[in-house]
Amino acid sequence: MCGIIGYIGEKNCVPILINGLKRLEYRGYDSAGISIINNGNTCIVKNKGKVSALEEKVSLMKLNAVLGIGHTRWATHGIPNEINAHPHSNEDNTLFLIHNGIIENYQTIKKGLKQIGYSFRSETDSEVLVMLIDSFLKKNYPLTKAVQLALSEVEGTYGIAVIYKDEPDKIVVARKGSPLVVGLGENENFIASDVSAILAHTKQIVYLDDGELAVITKNGFLVKTILDIEIEKEVHEISMSLDEIDKGGYSHFMLKEIMEQTESVTNSMRGRLLLEDGDAKLGGLANVIDKLVNSNRIIISACGTSWHAGLVGEYMFEQYARIQTEVEYASEFRYRNPIITNEDTVILISQSGETADTLAALREAKSRGALVLGICNVVGSTIARESNAGVYIHAGSEIGVASTKAFTSQLIVLALITLLIARKKSLSAAEGKELVEAMQELPDKISHILKLNDTIEQLAEEFKDSKNFLYLGRGYNFPAALEGALKLKEISYIHAEGYPAAEMKHGPIALIDEKMPVVFIATKDSTYEKVISNIEEVRARGGRIIAIASENDEEIDTLVDYSIKIPDTVEMLRPVLTSIPLQLLAYHIAVKKGLNVDQPRNLAKSVTVE
Ligand code: AGP
Repeated sequence: MCGIIGYIGEKNCVPILINGLKRLEYRGYDSAGISIINNGNTCIVKNKGKVSALEEKVSLMKLNAVLGIGHTRWATHGIPNEINAHPHSNEDNTLFLIHNGIIENYQTIKKGLKQIGYSFRSETDSEVLVMLIDSFLKKNYPLTKAVQLALSEVEGTYGIAVIYKDEPDKIVVARKGSPLVVGLGENENFIASDVSAILAHTKQIVYLDDGELAVITKNGFLVKTILDIEIEKEVHEISMSLDEIDKGGYSHFMLKEIMEQTESVTNSMRGRLLLEDGDAKLGGLANVIDKLVNSNRIIISACGTSWHAGLVGEYMFEQYARIQTEVEYASEFRYRNPIITNEDTVILISQSGETADTLAALREAKSRGALVLGICNVVGSTIARESNAGVYIHAGSEIGVASTKAFTSQLIVLALITLLIARKKSLSAAEGKELVEAMQELPDKISHILKLNDTIEQLAEEFKDSKNFLYLGRGYNFPAALEGALKLKEISYIHAEGYPAAEMKHGPIALIDEKMPVVFIATKDSTYEKVISNIEEVRARGGRIIAIASENDEEIDTLVDYSIKIPDTVEMLRPVLTSIPLQLLAYHIAVKKGLNVDQPRNLAKSVTVE
């Protein structure tokens, strides 16, 4: 979703802003812009489309300044065009603002501002905010106070950065519901919506929390609440490296991230498996383990791919940990007045740790007294920080909008939590050891699957022109089918549905004809025979079948059009393996269709608005 970067220091900020915006491209955007202030001169440059186009425009202008802000916009209010792009400015172009989030009461504020003579150029909610701040500046308030007063009138969410020609020694930023960090350097400081934008310059990071405002100068920063109470903030040294956010020779981040899964899955398990004891060790849960083990119920809440991981978690927790588990879309959970008690544990799963609905679900659960655990990838993200306890998945930076390695690492962490609880309940050390061994074997099995890349690419050629796909699986592989369908639709724009295989008879079977590819996850597990019956039903109606099957299963080749053979593992861990060929299939189909795999249309990596 929208991205923010800002610089104040001694260097020319223009290349810093442009390169920072390029680092933010993965979040999804439709327009971009910068504004700068230098020696009493101001300039604003914006355009619809890519940051590279903005870069070209800016390079012709030969701009130089030591203070500036930049933005990538993902349209919410008003179509993507140059006027609606950020930064927005006041009438005389002395005050500039960039904004992530949604100002819910912007119509009311706009009406009031119009009555006192303000007029508006854009259709955005954000422009209202710059004019509101301007109205306080006109009453002679200094910039910081004007921002505080304006924000006290605002309902909604925001991460903002503001610069003002008459106070060129500072950037004022504030946050409510949209992430913002301050990056600290030598005689220079940075602000960004996400550390990747400023990682090339600093690893010293201050995370702002909701309700906080910061004044950033060349040599320091001051954090206050919107109500002007000063706050001490911790400076974090982050360990992420620039390599992590580069393509590393791959044509797309998505392919790089799929191919990294041998390593990312290993990293998610590193130091967390106790082979001899058949157990797991998760430092992040040490203080809450008794409460977790004795939970009456576990509720997992998440969105998209993370929700699919949660569904696998439900199967794991109920089978091994024997705790009743429910999985909720975070967007539904937050508004339906859920019944939660202090005997429940609510687990939020989020790659980014910033998804607005998941964060709201977290706060809802916390306010009702549940133990709240976060499973996140981004270290220091809001969900990770606001949870009572949690486990990082350590998948490494995931830049491709379509989540791949985060999904398999989420499954690993859910398996580790399952093992931890189950061993404290009825799972024997010998049974635990079997699971640990199976987990330790996963990286080699993943490497084996990744070698099927070329075969899957050929299959993609065969199916790239299909208009619809069905993905079917049972048990642990049902969520993997949902995830396979989501991967295909988000990057190839082919309509795809995932279903529990047996549910096909209750409706989707009507869609089956010789044009309908059906992907079955049909590995040899406890539901294998049932899935074979479902394959027969599709075959009888002329559907084209692709099976993800066990490597020793030769029989299946007599029933399906194509099969992708993968190694087996224990049932609980199957989706870690079965999801990978589906990621590759979606990837190659999208590439063959000539689509922008890493930045699919309309999508954002981190959905920070409702
Ligand atoms: C995954 O491919 C999607 N782009 C999307 O569904 C994503 O999983 C969802 O928005 C949740 O994101 P999160 O894990 O960062 O909370």
